[in-house]
Amino acid sequence: MHAYRDAIFQVVRQGDVVADIGAGLGVLSLQACAAGAARVYAIEIDAVANLIPDIANTNGFADRIVAYKGVSFEIDLPERVDIVIASMLDSFGVDSNLLEVVIDARRRLLKPGGTIIPSALQLSVCPIEVTSFYEENVARWSQPRFGFSFGDARRFAANQRLCTRIQRESLLATPKSSDQIELLFVESAAVSFDVDFLIERIGVFHGFAGWFDATMAAGVRCGNSPLDAHALPWALSIFPVEHPVPVQPGYTVKARIRAVTFQREITWVWNAQIFDLAGVPIAVFKHSTFEGSLITRHELVREIPQ
Ligand SMILES: C[S@@+](CC[C@H](N)C(=O)[O-])C[C@H]1O[C@@H](n2cnc3c(N)ncnc32)[C@H](O)[C@@H]1O
Repeated sequence: MHAYRDAIFQVVRQGDVVADIGAGLGVLSLQACAAGAARVYAIEIDAVANLIPDIANTNGFADRIVAYKGVSFEIDLPERVDIVIASMLDSFGVDSNLLEVVIDARRRLLKPGGTIIPSALQLSVCPIEVTSFYEENVARWSQPRFGFSFGDARRFAANQRLCTRIQRESLLATPKSSDQIELLFVESAAVSFDVDFLIERIGVFHGFAGWFDATMAAGVRCGNSPLDAHALPWALSIFPVEHPVPVQPGYTVKARIRAVTFQREITWVWNAQIFDLAGVPIAVFKHSTFEGSLITRHELVREIPQ
């Protein structure tokens, strides 16, 4: 919130027109008015949008904030705006479809030469050891309960994008980061990492963590990196693997992590190959949130006419 506020006060000029996408109760719309905006279009898909006019009124900005309840992709504004604010940042930055929202808003709602808050995103990933979290969220499905096995559920659990906070001690290697994704120029919502990690300590590989670093405006940034002492106290995205793999320094983890967007739904795909000191592959994993969606193969097969 502080980073958004600082960016708004840096970027918004007297008389600017702003689109606050993902407005919630309109807190950033209020900030934009306080910074001098002449008009703010507050767009929010959730029913909380119905409260925005009252809150705008209570704070003396009823004449400047116009609320739209709906999804940004389907909202047309009466004019193009100087600034788009997009606040659907999530544990891995792009999970709530921030990139598609921004690409669409830039094409339809933003004036040429306009500004977007945040201005850029950088995503990072790293192999991790998270023993108790893994035990609780994935491995426990292998424990019989009341004498029955629920082991079949483990495969689904290991195909979920999970979330938790982790410390830097959980990292098994030096993280790898994407290039800066400049929101004024990004053309695709696809995210793709094809990276190799060199394991740096003895431990157990449980999967990957993903986090973001956002540049809100020049000199204003925020993020949830476990390496940043001033990071937001937010969860990170966790991409687990189905079985833990003991690793040691010199082992290599070859990772392919991708976000594929189809009809505005993100599917995460994460593959890992682990190589020992001799370069021999000791484990291979292929995971995706599609596999974890519980749209089972049986259902898909049933849909296919015989
Ligand atoms: C993290 S909240 C931020 C709320 C508020 N702007 C703030 O800073 O506290 C993100 C909001 O974006 C909304 N949202 C996400 N995608 C949206 C979209 N495409 N169109 C409209 N609202 C969206 C969600 O419903 C949620 O209320």
